[in-house]
Amino acid sequence: MKALILSGGKGTRLRPLTYTGAKQLVPVANKPILWYGIEALVAAGITDIGIVISPESGDEVRAKTGDGKRFGAQITYIRQDSPDGLAHAVKVAQPFLGDSPFVMYLGDNLIQGDLAALLNDFKTRTLAATILLCPVPNPTAFGVAEVGADGRVLRLVEKPKVPPSNLALVGIYFFSAVIHDAIADISPSARGELEITDAIQWLIDRQACVEACQLRGWWLDTGKKDDLLEANRVILDTRLQTAILGEVDAQSKATGRVRLGEGSRLINCTVRGPAIVGANCHLENCFIGPYTSIADDVRLVDADIEHSVILAGASVEGVSGRIVDSLIGQRASLTTAPRRPKAMRLMIGDDSKIELI
Ligand code: G1P
Repeated sequence: MKALILSGGKGTRLRPLTYTGAKQLVPVANKPILWYGIEALVAAGITDIGIVISPESGDEVRAKTGDGKRFGAQITYIRQDSPDGLAHAVKVAQPFLGDSPFVMYLGDNLIQGDLAALLNDFKTRTLAATILLCPVPNPTAFGVAEVGADGRVLRLVEKPKVPPSNLALVGIYFFSAVIHDAIADISPSARGELEITDAIQWLIDRQACVEACQLRGWWLDTGKKDDLLEANRVILDTRLQTAILGEVDAQSKATGRVRLGEGSRLINCTVRGPAIVGANCHLENCFIGPYTSIADDVRLVDADIEHSVILAGASVEGVSGRIVDSLIGQRASLTTAPRRPKAMRLMIGDDSKIELI
């Protein structure tokens, strides 16, 4: 059994962060989203992993993630020259996959449950495919399944205007090699992509055994800012363990589950967990509220931040209001000009979104 993780795409919904980096490398609780997928696959016993990368962000994914040794896996990188769809990515990966059954895992998806039980079921029953479904409030944003009274999948539609149900296709699929026949026979969709949804429909139309499994527990697709913040909240809530590796001065307080990285200093700060601070950060006169992740080399002075993600090298200094529900990019700097409170001096990157309240 192999795994194929898709880590290409343009990440348009996370711009401007994705101009300078792959969306799958944006951290959740200070760890790239992609790595959660790799760890979940290795935990389920799959160590032969292919990662599909794009020409734009592939080098960064490869440099950061490496050959897989750190995860106990062997990683093969596969370049997809153009973003022509999920099924196209499988086609490009065919030399790596061979005739092996495989798990296809979209690199920006996170699920709560472990994959081992699903994998076992897939293997012992020799199915053509297993898909995972999860009820969502906004099915038009996903692939959607119409399921019969007996639980069988009748039809799959990609991003339907009128959804046949609220059951979205989770970005984790189990396939036998027959999926390659399906992909070879389908045509690009209206948006010009080879859709994996159409390939699975091809299997259903030919009465192949396609099993649908309703996911228990949470599923997060981290493609947009609010989804990313939600993923950050859930991961901090469920997985963060206290560890104070940096320095906390006598005027500072860290309560609840807090992780403070090596070389980081808290000076006259209150940190209320769950919250994580990376390595070599300087935090002075700050309140850091729950569900906040601060990456490495961040400088925060006179700041009040809650339910936010601050990326590496960013700085926030002397901002009087509380910063909430925010995502601050790498090396970004946020300050208040002291003398002219009604004026603003800004340099805002393309596609930035700033709400002044
Ligand atoms: C893709 C799939 C869609 C699925 C979703 C899950 O959509 O095409 O069927 O529901 O992933 O994350 P995309 O995120 O590429 O818009």
